Amino acid sequence: MTERPYVIDKMISAKAIAARIEALCMDIEAEFSGTDKLVVVGLLRGSFVFIADLVRELDLPIEVDFLETSSYGDGMESSREVRILKDLRGTIEGRDVLVVEDIVDTGYTMSHVIRLLKGRKPAKLRSIALLDKPSRREVDVSSDWIGFEIPDEFVVGYGIDFAQRNRNLPYIGKVRFT
Ligand code: IMP
Ligand code: MG
Repeated sequence: MTERPYVIDKMISAKAIAARIEALCMDIEAEFSGTDKLVVVGLLRGSFVFIADLVRELDLPIEVDFLETSSYGDGMESSREVRILKDLRGTIEGRDVLVVEDIVDTGYTMSHVIRLLKGRKPAKLRSIALLDKPSRREVDVSSDWIGFEIPDEFVVGYGIDFAQRNRNLPYIGKVRFT
């Protein structure tokens, strides 16, 4: 399946992403103004580029931690069963937390992670996803901030992969099989 040849059509430019992040960060700063030290939790691996750009735009005291959940494997379909492959290093009890995800698709991953982290009693828990595919939703979950709503297309780039490839594209593109 991953051998099937495909091309990538540009969907969201690096410039558009940067501009959106700037706007989002103003909202996030307002929401967490006065925070002691915000824990920014990136969901590995897809959010690594987004989180890097996001934290450099955030004018807040922060620390960064990571959580890794099971992924699609090499396919294009969610397994709908979310496992934690790597847990946070730090504790979040009583802390302000921002969860950073690349894409909310069926919603299984985000809802699982939010439930897990809520159980650890953070003071405030918010979430942001760069991309949202609302038409694919199977679990009722919404992020506090969304970068872009996109149609039901399989996308790559800006940290997001297809079978581990194309994460290093500076923009978001959609996969089109040829
Ligand atoms: P969900 O649990 O179905 O919401 O899936 C969320 C995860 O699936 C995201 O964190 C991505 O890693 C992955 N995913 C969803 N859509 C895409 C896509 O279009 N391209 C690559 N990965 C995707
Ligand atoms: Mg992911």
